[in-house]
Amino acid sequence: MPLATTPLYDTLGWFIQGATGPVAGNGTKMIDDPDNPGQKIQAGRLAIRTVVGKSLMVIAGDTALAEYFPTLLAEVGAGNTTGYNNLLQSFTDFVQQAVSTQTGVYKGKSMRDAHNFATYSRFGSAAVQKSTAADFDLFVGDVASAATSLNVPNSVIGQLGTLLYSVKGDIVY
Ligand code: HEM
Repeated sequence: MPLATTPLYDTLGWFIQGATGPVAGNGTKMIDDPDNPGQKIQAGRLAIRTVVGKSLMVIAGDTALAEYFPTLLAEVGAGNTTGYNNLLQSFTDFVQQAVSTQTGVYKGKSMRDAHNFATYSRFGSAAVQKSTAADFDLFVGDVASAATSLNVPNSVIGQLGTLLYSVKGDIVY
């Protein structure tokens, strides 16, 4: 059975390959992974991972959101990127699954459990247990800035924004 795809996943895969020729078929197309020599990656996934990686950099530099990431920021500050890499993969898996409609890609926690200090001690602290609505908006704004800096078209950023807002009720509650 061929892998599931969608127009958005195809567009992302097409875009990361330089945006030439027909769009269809580019989401699941296997291409060289620039970060892992000798490995292949779906072009749509590579596009998503690129945006997620840039987003994590913007978020890491956003002092307004630092209180939510004490563990990760301390690790990275000490030169330990294991947690960062896990988050990069997991966040990429989540978006890939949502965008492509492929199944079994995301194996992490539910969005509710991942964004509550009571159920995931890497999120926030005893003093900051959950995200506020205002900080949710800042977070999505940081993802949009990251995508803009990568020249992702506004129409695509809009669709990614819709996806992120679709889980707001599971993160701000
Ligand atoms: C906008 C939609 C969002 C999505 C789709 C999302 C997705 C994710 C995913 C997939 C994980 C990893 C869960 C796991 O591996 O089990 C995660 C972890 C996390 N998220 Fe979110 N998130 C969103 C919004 C936010 C917001 C608004 C905040 C804070 C204001 C936030 C802070 C965190 C933190 C602190 C972690 C744990 C990081 C670590 O590994 O140390 N997220 N998120």
